[in-house]
Amino acid sequence: MNTNQQEILQASKILITGAAGFIGSNLCETLINIGSTVVGLDNFATGHKRNLSKLLENPKFTFIEGDIRNIDDCHKACEGVDFVLHQAALGSVPRSINDPITSNDVNVGGFLNMLVASRDAGVKRFIYAASSSTYGDSIALPKVEEKIGKPLSPYAITKYVNELYADNFKKTYDLDTIGLRYFNVFGRKQDPDGAYAAVIPKFVMQFMKHESPVINGDGSFSRDFTYIDNVIQMNLLSIVSDNPEALNNVYNTAFGERTTLNELTSLLKEYLGEYDSAIADIEMKYGSERKGDVPHSLASVDKAKALLGYAPKFDIKSGLKEAVKWYWENLK
Ligand SMILES: NC(=O)c1ccc[n+]([C@@H]2O[C@H](COP(=O)([O-])OP(=O)(O)OC[C@H]3O[C@@H](n4cnc5c(N)ncnc54)[C@H](O)[C@@H]3O)[C@@H](O)[C@H]2O)c1
Repeated sequence: MNTNQQEILQASKILITGAAGFIGSNLCETLINIGSTVVGLDNFATGHKRNLSKLLENPKFTFIEGDIRNIDDCHKACEGVDFVLHQAALGSVPRSINDPITSNDVNVGGFLNMLVASRDAGVKRFIYAASSSTYGDSIALPKVEEKIGKPLSPYAITKYVNELYADNFKKTYDLDTIGLRYFNVFGRKQDPDGAYAAVIPKFVMQFMKHESPVINGDGSFSRDFTYIDNVIQMNLLSIVSDNPEALNNVYNTAFGERTTLNELTSLLKEYLGEYDSAIADIEMKYGSERKGDVPHSLASVDKAKALLGYAPKFDIKSGLKEAVKWYWENLK
């Protein structure tokens, strides 16, 4: 960030929905450290109070416990806000397969409420968490923003509908938006617990307990695992960008390299093995493939580099080392 960009952030009031979640709480912390005025909204569906503990003491942070399915909560949260970073949603493909109605209510109904409330409050820019799942059954690699396939899960449908609504709100109401298609984000504070936990925190916790994690499939599936700090950078750039061509677009938010599940688990064992040598010898187990999973995912980040000036700082190895250190120090 240059001085001018820092000043924009310091002078702004920024609403972060999903503030008690993994990505939302990291965004809150970063912006509070920069000096922004931050409002957080969350209903604790999957987020945790512990993620907000340090923030609640800060006079520049206001927390609203509320639900994006309730338009009054959305209006209240948007009062006087300059920028919205909309993260609240029910994540997880399997969750949406088990309960498509609730995923749709939150991810589509709640999203529409947030767009309406942002429009009514006259926010300058609505920046939202989109998803790599929107590439669906397209097998083309690397993924480029303009070429998507058909969604493979209810979750993927909800995230694609978000993009359609955002595009339409520009056309219909002149609300500027930016969608960030996150690719398998990982890092500090990502929840390791529960049936729908993401693979990295789940495996880290299992390794720390000397349990054998189960890989769905043969481990050859690959993902563009993206460290949280790269995601934070994309959100900040989306706020401060003064390039008019950057607005009303969607961007892959990733590092731009892919790693197979087998490679990932080797790295985890290596890095955790530095804290506890017995972890390096834990054998993996293999189970059946999961419905709705795409075999491979790899982003082109050329568009974000060209239009937003994105320059990701953490590759999978440097990100994993940071994440493993955090889990070891905080959750062991
Ligand atoms: N983590 C990833 O790899 C990834 C990948 C693609 C997209 N995303 C998207 O990024 C966003 C953040 O994901 P995350 O990984 O931090 O997940 P998370 O579950 O940690 O955070 C989501 C937050 O939204 C809150 N929330 C859920 N329903 C709500 C409601 N009705 N009202 C208010 N708050 C509600 C939850 O309590 C939680 O704190 C989500 O939109 C998700 O779909 C994440």
